Amino acid sequence: MKNDTPTTVIEVKNLACGYGETVVLQKVSFSVHPQELLFVIGGSGCGKSTLLRCMIGLLKPVHGDVAYFGKSFTAADTVQRRDILKTFGVLYQNSALWSSMTLAENVSLPLEEHTSLTREDRREITALKLAQVGLSGSEELYPSELSGGMKKRAALARALALDPAIVFFDEPSTGLDPITSREMDELILQVRDTLGTTMVIVSHQLSSIFRLADRVIMLDRESKGIIAEGAPRDLAAKSTNPRVREFLKQDEEFSKQTNHASAKKPVSISK
Ligand SMILES: Nc1ncnc2c1ncn2[C@@H]1O[C@H](COP(=O)(O)OP(=O)(O)OP(=O)(O)O)[C@@H](O)[C@H]1O
Ligand SMILES: [Mg+2]
Repeated sequence: MKNDTPTTVIEVKNLACGYGETVVLQKVSFSVHPQELLFVIGGSGCGKSTLLRCMIGLLKPVHGDVAYFGKSFTAADTVQRRDILKTFGVLYQNSALWSSMTLAENVSLPLEEHTSLTREDRREITALKLAQVGLSGSEELYPSELSGGMKKRAALARALALDPAIVFFDEPSTGLDPITSREMDELILQVRDTLGTTMVIVSHQLSSIFRLADRVIMLDRESKGIIAEGAPRDLAAKSTNPRVREFLKQDEEFSKQTNHASAKKPVSISK
């Protein structure tokens, strides 16, 4: 790592967000470190997706600030905002691929919008990104021809198109069977380990949280904010908040399996 690498990739300060008169979250502060897998967890409706929307600029914060690499996103002008937007890729809760476009066209879209690369360069990068997520040769398929797991992979390829420093991922395992969900977890780890991507992942899938998360922040609907922050195993064992312990409760057999799964595997994707 270079000496000038910042220690904080994202800094969320005293953030409040909501819809109209409804306050969903308030006084939310946390930071995300380089190459960290940070999970945003909590029960349904506690504001996980809302926090993500606020962080990526889809929802204007009611109060507070989100900064990337030390530069405020909230206070940025149009040009600064565009530069910051290029530093992250996003995967939405439902994959959100364009159904009328092939996979190659979907993945190539950010390159067309944000770069002046030639058609040939775009084609090469698209093939590389699809290879990175294990979808080589699927360029001409349409989203309707894909399984749920393949759609998520394709959406990840598109999010990686511009080589972002950060990827936001809302519910990677929704709608996936346990095996496909586990493959998705492994892919996420590989991307982080090979490309050095910082990842902010929304999830309430316990298996993924224990397998992947370096740290979690747990949101709570009642208190409209963060009720716990730390490594999932530490929180599960030591949190003084019974709601946190209850949420992170896992049986011992499952714990053994996830400990085993989180051992580093050889990386097989191309950089
Ligand atoms: N577009 C919207 N307009 C108004 N209220 C909304 C909107 N989207 C979400 N909400 C409300 O904000 C609260 C938080 O919703 P959000 O979708 O952020 O929760 P979540 O933690 O992502 O839930 P889930 O786990 O079900 O995805 C909920 O009460 C929800 O009804
Ligand atoms: Mg959500």
